[in-house]
Amino acid sequence: IKKITTHQLQEMKNRGEKISMLTAYDFSMAKLVDASGVDVILVGDSASNVMAGHETTLPITLDQMIYHASAVVRAVERALVVVDIPFGSYQGNSSEALRSSIRIMKESGGHAVKMEGGAEIQESIKRILSAGIPVMGHLGLTPQSIYKFGTYTVRAKEEEEAEKLIADAKILEECGCFSIVLEKIPAELAKRVAKEVNIPIIGIGAGPYVDGQVLVLHDVLGITTEFKPRFLRHYARLDTVITEAIGKYVEDVKNIEFPNEDEMY
Ligand code: KIV
Ligand code: NA
Repeated sequence: IKKITTHQLQEMKNRGEKISMLTAYDFSMAKLVDASGVDVILVGDSASNVMAGHETTLPITLDQMIYHASAVVRAVERALVVVDIPFGSYQGNSSEALRSSIRIMKESGGHAVKMEGGAEIQESIKRILSAGIPVMGHLGLTPQSIYKFGTYTVRAKEEEEAEKLIADAKILEECGCFSIVLEKIPAELAKRVAKEVNIPIIGIGAGPYVDGQVLVLHDVLGITTEFKPRFLRHYARLDTVITEAIGKYVEDVKNIEFPNEDEMY
């Protein structure tokens, strides 16, 4: 199997082929995601919500991200594995950012890191890139700074914030980021960024005029269903598939219908 590289993602943008990206946090699911042909697997800090049940992405630690990422890397044969650097392990300190990135690369075997922010983290990005670690940017709705914004509503609807986002995207490109995630911004703004910036732009809630799409795996599969923003499409409703299967198992145990003759020694 031919492994996906950052260079291939750039070639995909150049020839107009859309990039598919999805999160994964564990070995078994990552194996299925990879086998399904997804180009980029993100070990997102959304693991904080989806895996650990926290309300925000802030509590997850670097050690926990490395645990998730190492499990994913062991399962993946084709996709590029990108790992989120968690809150508190890069902001405001470029040597810490480098140290965190090196730990992720060494201890998990991931192929790249992702971090939230623009101009304010450019020193960190340059330092990480100088160590040979590919960096993916993340602009628009940046969940690690949720307490600064106060809400999860659409970002950059106003002119000033939109111009700042475009400037940040250009800074990330100049720094050498191989790609940028744009989260929850107007489709027309995302379109402008994808046009004015040469590196692949991956959207989540950013419309169709970008170079690829990313969603959270458990949302796509309908395992988590309380969270249903407009940009999310449920490609399955595994919540009912799972509860019906488990309900049947419980029933069979109660009725002594499991195990049967063939299922014992
Ligand atoms: O953590 C995450 O899942 C993400 C994606 C939503 C882009 O950052
Ligand atoms: Na994230």
